[in-house]
Amino acid sequence: MRIQASAPGKVILLGEHAVVYGRPAIAAPLSGLRATVTVEPGRPGSGVVIEARDLGRTLHTSQEPADPLVVTVSNTLARLGVPDPGDLHLTIASDIPIASGLGSGAAVAVATIRALDAWFTELPNAEALAGSRLKARLRKQLTDAEVSALAYETEVLHHGTPSGIDNSVVTYERPIVFTRARGVEPFSLGRPLTLVVGDTGIASPTRETVGDVRRAWQADPARYEALFDAVAETVQAGRTAIERGDVPALGAAMRRDHALLQELGVSCPELDRLVAAAEEAGALGAKLAGGGRGGNMIALVTGETADRVAAALRAAGARRALVSEIF
Ligand code: MEV
Repeated sequence: MRIQASAPGKVILLGEHAVVYGRPAIAAPLSGLRATVTVEPGRPGSGVVIEARDLGRTLHTSQEPADPLVVTVSNTLARLGVPDPGDLHLTIASDIPIASGLGSGAAVAVATIRALDAWFTELPNAEALAGSRLKARLRKQLTDAEVSALAYETEVLHHGTPSGIDNSVVTYERPIVFTRARGVEPFSLGRPLTLVVGDTGIASPTRETVGDVRRAWQADPARYEALFDAVAETVQAGRTAIERGDVPALGAAMRRDHALLQELGVSCPELDRLVAAAEEAGALGAKLAGGGRGGNMIALVTGETADRVAAALRAAGARRALVSEIF
């Protein structure tokens, strides 16, 4: 018996950082880049073992209880009401680069939660491993809201003060407008969007840029609140453009947002170089995506300009340029 679950990467189309301070942001899944978690019976007496292939790490949950991967497993088991899961082997594999603004931590958490949920709600496993036949039969699969809330707890370990947008877009796997106060809002695209996602190849943990913005905001709240308000206006303009299918207007909102992110201090020369190269090659707009200071940028393109922009990004030093459709 084997159970597998996967979850996508994500991009922030507009509004990162300001979303931590209550402003809206727009995010979309990258369904072609995924984290996959497989659950299988473990060696007898092994307890719960997590093999994170891409990190080259194998963790025994009893030995490293504070590790975010282990905490995700323990929180999920507690939520599922499984005090003694027996011997389990979890294998994590992911195509999503780490510390690159593409939601790798949230995707691994969501795939882990969904794989364990499925494992303990499939009756043969539930009966054998959860002990109580009746309890297993009564157990319902976690709702999306419950999965997202559990993944948020892991995001707190990774990022300190996450807004909740990453776990939300990765859980629901559709484009979302997100605010801390209202959570996920219904939202539809007037037409599909084509993005090129360009990777600087520079690892940049979100925790650091989010922490730097917080310190800067504490030092000069008036300036930063005004910048967050300007980001919010840009997000609103971008939302209207996306809903109307007005791709050039979305491109303009992305250009403005990148300029504001530069003012927030979260861009870097490599990101600025890729953004400029994309625009010179015909992208309608481009911006950093995620925490910034490295990681990835996105360029809004059309079917005709996608290959040219991807080639220009590679020529400007992108480690990878991936064309992705957002529906
Ligand atoms: C990270 O994908 C987006 C940030 O706004 C952080 C967050 O919202 O938690 C930088």
